[in-house]
Amino acid sequence: MLTFRNLALRRGEQLLLSDVDLSLHAGVRVGVVGRNGCGKTSLFAVVQGDLDPDRGDMELSGRVRIASVAQETPHLPDPAVDFVMSGDALVWAAIKAERDAMAAEDYEAVAVAHQRLAELQAYDAEARAARLLHGLGFPAITHDKPVGEFSGGWRVRLNLARALMTPSDLLLLDEPTNHLDLDAVLWLEDWLLNYPGTLLIISHDREFLDGVTSHTLHLHDARAKLYTGNYTSFERQRSEHLRLQQIAFEKEQAEREHLQKFIARFKAKASKAKQAQSRMKRLAKLAGTEAVRAEHALHISFDPPPKLPFSLVRLNHLDAGYRAAAPREVDEHLPGELNSARGEVTILRNVGFGLEAGDRVALLGPNGAGKSTLVKTLTGELPLLGGERNVHGDLRIGYFAQHTVESLRSGATPMDHLRDIAPEASTQDMRSFLGRWYFSGQRAFQSVDVFSGGERARLALSLIAWRKPNVLLLDEPTNHLDLDMREALAEALSDFDGAIVLVSHDRHLIGLVCDTFWRVADGRVEPFEGDLDEYATWLSARANKSAAAGEPARVAEVTAGSEPGISGVAARTAGNPKLKGNPKAKPDQSTSRRQQQLAKLEARLQASAAELLVLEGQLADPGLYAAEPQALTGLTNRHAAVQKSHEALEAEWLDLYGQLEAG
Ligand SMILES: Nc1ncnc2c1ncn2[C@@H]1O[C@H](COP(=O)(O)OP(=O)(O)OP(=O)(O)O)[C@@H](O)[C@H]1O
Ligand SMILES: [Mg+2]
Repeated sequence: MLTFRNLALRRGEQLLLSDVDLSLHAGVRVGVVGRNGCGKTSLFAVVQGDLDPDRGDMELSGRVRIASVAQETPHLPDPAVDFVMSGDALVWAAIKAERDAMAAEDYEAVAVAHQRLAELQAYDAEARAARLLHGLGFPAITHDKPVGEFSGGWRVRLNLARALMTPSDLLLLDEPTNHLDLDAVLWLEDWLLNYPGTLLIISHDREFLDGVTSHTLHLHDARAKLYTGNYTSFERQRSEHLRLQQIAFEKEQAEREHLQKFIARFKAKASKAKQAQSRMKRLAKLAGTEAVRAEHALHISFDPPPKLPFSLVRLNHLDAGYRAAAPREVDEHLPGELNSARGEVTILRNVGFGLEAGDRVALLGPNGAGKSTLVKTLTGELPLLGGERNVHGDLRIGYFAQHTVESLRSGATPMDHLRDIAPEASTQDMRSFLGRWYFSGQRAFQSVDVFSGGERARLALSLIAWRKPNVLLLDEPTNHLDLDMREALAEALSDFDGAIVLVSHDRHLIGLVCDTFWRVADGRVEPFEGDLDEYATWLSARANKSAAAGEPARVAEVTAGSEPGISGVAARTAGNPKLKGNPKAKPDQSTSRRQQQLAKLEARLQASAAELLVLEGQLADPGLYAAEPQALTGLTNRHAAVQKSHEALEAEWLDLYGQLEAG
């Protein structure tokens, strides 16, 4: 289905690939692996026709429909679920036609549109889109939120959902797990296993690859080699191959030496001249097997901080969260507890937490429970909503998060970036520093615009290291980094003298670096006495408990940090702080009756939000209705009905709230 013939690819001065001959059959699931900057993303660009090879060609058989994840998300006012649906162009056109016809009250056109929807079997499109969103971790409350209001990581997930919605024969995914939490990664694995087309997935996540792929394409030394089997199988084959190659090389070297000696000794002797000649021929024929070049391990380091006080930072009785105007990146979907008078959302309450030199803390907790909120409060980026934050005068924080990578200046080089933060430093110092982070020679003077994802992440880390911090706050630092660089980072962190706070879904890294665990969940931050396995057990017990109580785990997550009663409403009315919380109480009777009514409505809203989440969970699990297709219709209908009544309740609530506020 996809064939490369003698393909060569160059980017700038670098020869990324050459002599690539490769043929992929329909239905294979290929993991594309290789070090940062080896050309994986560029190869995808060739497949998509966005980049021309320097030599050779690529052929796609027949009419192959390709789907891939867009790099940018448009700043649209459209609801997320519509954006996802629009991934299926035909279905989306029909839905739009129906909506327009309805709006224009043109019932003939409505009938035509319905016919079209029936032809396309598109009636479940919205439910499918909602299932994709749900699977990728979007709480139901966010499905109607405008696309433009989502922040970085969530926008990437939106694009992924849209790509999965697009009907395709060939699906290209470039590091799809980077912005996902573990739940979503497992869901994606499942989804991909049910995908009937051909898959090409770039990833540095070996467990994910092992779960999904049937073949592995290894890009290395400008070559591409296809192995049958998943990542682990590839590693085994490759090391076996390297071992045999080394043996063959040594044998050949020995034979070569032997032949050369013989020739040297007997060339001059007439009686042996013949044999010498035949050995010379044999020598010329030797294959020239190459020695296995030892792959050099990567090595990076964080210098010892010039000043390392013992007690670095301390939070006492701290309430953490957001003011209405503050951006709410990663935790934005978390309703928290809203104090309407001050327009604040409290995510974490009464936090006591301190960092001392040498501490190695991993923050554990369900996605969205407030880990990033805690980190941002430690840095001082978020205002305190209560309590105190004491810092030592010599505290120097190095903070890494996804937006650190995204905020690299377009058009600027690594040297420019370094000069921004170190105007005094000599060019020589800067060059040698960048060299230690593998930006040597010309690379230090290249614009970051052409850098690969992993190269950018490495640069962002190096800029943090330059400042010689005594505290490292690292929020998912391994996204984009290749496996060797992840090892190098783990080693560098182990050698670091200051304190470390790490948020990561990379269990391997946590295991190597951290010795203390804190759990961030349900609005609290507490030390967790146990290891990662015990944490996993706790997490699943918690999920079971909330499932047994009739709530899926996500309900608990979504409402983490909020008081019962208000969370559901707070969630559904997120984005407009005025709509949340009870208005000021007035002592007259009708007011208090209304307030009771309001509280009842809130309880019902919460119950219906929970049911919606349960239904969405069931809809997201094709296994549930695979055996009985009619169950799907039942579920979809029930979902539509609950959704409708939920909206009606919400309208009622808003109305009542308005009355109360008007007094
Ligand atoms: N327009 C360009 N001009 C010059 N060099 C480029 C250009 N685009 C990419 N490169 C370089 O080509 C190399 C390959 O980039 P590519 O994005 O394909 O790597 P990758 O294998 O996907 O890496 P990663 O694992 O970090 O995502 C990188 O070193 C990158 O800096
Ligand atoms: Mg890439």
